[in-house]
Amino acid sequence: MKNIRAVYPGSFDPVTYGHIDLIQRSAALFDQVIVAILKNTEKTPLFTVEERIEMLNSSISDLGNVSVASFEGLLVDFVEKVGASVIIRGIRAVSDYEYELQMALMNRRLSNKVETVFMLPAEAYSFLSSKLVKEIAELGGNIDGFVPPEVAKRVRAKLGKPGQSTC
Ligand code: PNS
Repeated sequence: MKNIRAVYPGSFDPVTYGHIDLIQRSAALFDQVIVAILKNTEKTPLFTVEERIEMLNSSISDLGNVSVASFEGLLVDFVEKVGASVIIRGIRAVSDYEYELQMALMNRRLSNKVETVFMLPAEAYSFLSSKLVKEIAELGGNIDGFVPPEVAKRVRAKLGKPGQSTC
């Protein structure tokens, strides 16, 4: 029986219910799942990597085979370093596919030991993204249905928006 370790990489700025749905599905499919946050020096994130790790850890505490890490450099190098053989990426809509296909084929070119597996989140989250969550919160909208309560609290605190109106 194979022991398959998978890496679910991303920015997770912040983690949403869509990410959590994919983590749960991946945890049911693979022996071990490592959620890997990219330390991206180009983007200006809302949360530090440490804050994102904290929010992810509190969101996945019920899943025994999932851990959270951060990485820099090439994703395939990180995947090989942690002894994983699978990269998980979520596809929400056809619009995600072209970029994801390009990345998956490039990663395969960079390492033929690593396979990318595309997974679909629940339809209820097919429109959800960290970017929209931040935009809604910034404009005073209610993000409670999109991220866990602890994350919603932190987003509002970061943006200095204590109140919430229905979106
Ligand atoms: O959640 P995101 O921001 O869409 O995740 C993108 C991520 C982190 C998966 C991608 O930017 C990545 O893998 N970066 C690491 C650098 C790398 O390996 N680049 C070559 C990819 S083909």
